Amino acid sequence: MSVATNSVHKQMVQTQDDINPQDNPKAHQKNSQEASQKTSQNAGSSVTDSTNLIQRMAVIVVGVLVAFILMTWGVHAMQMSDPYIRNVLALTGDAARGHDIFQLNCAVCHGLEAAGEVGPDLHGVSDRKSQVALIQQVISGKTPPMPQFQPNAKDMADLLDYLETL
Ligand code: HEC
Repeated sequence: MSVATNSVHKQMVQTQDDINPQDNPKAHQKNSQEASQKTSQNAGSSVTDSTNLIQRMAVIVVGVLVAFILMTWGVHAMQMSDPYIRNVLALTGDAARGHDIFQLNCAVCHGLEAAGEVGPDLHGVSDRKSQVALIQQVISGKTPPMPQFQPNAKDMADLLDYLETL
């Protein structure tokens, strides 16, 4: 008998909660699990619901941030483990020599003084791109029609130094 009463009560509570969760805070607490499921369908229907939502959103935001930091760090570590890039960065570039190399290899597209032709104007490019990104731009061939270059480390260091003077 008591079981039956209980289930009747429960059903009544659920029904009330279904109609308007704000009218019955106690029932709302009992059914907090159901309530939190409803949160996604009916966001902010009560204070508890929106607190739950904010907490969950905070967890997601922190998760995304941690993933982002790990990825950035991972990419950086990978780039630094590339012996070619490490060699280039260890050398002291000569911008004048880099200018000559640029005029022979790059000027067709970027213009003799890097002001842009087919390829974009490269002035201020080192403000937009890191040293590693600049090296990769030259050696990767990932942005056609710009071809993939394979300069030796010294030539690349000189080119890099020239690009940084722009
Ligand atoms: C065949 C034409 C061509 C040649 C040769 C060429 N580039 Fe490019 N370059 C491009 C084009 C086109 C882009 C734009 C690519 C994109 O982002 O889609 C570009 C982009 C770049 C960028 C990035 C610019 C930015 O604003 O992000 C750099 C740096 C660059 N080139 C340097 C060089 C250097 C150094 C050389 C010579 C070793 C060279 N390029 C040779 C066509 C060329």
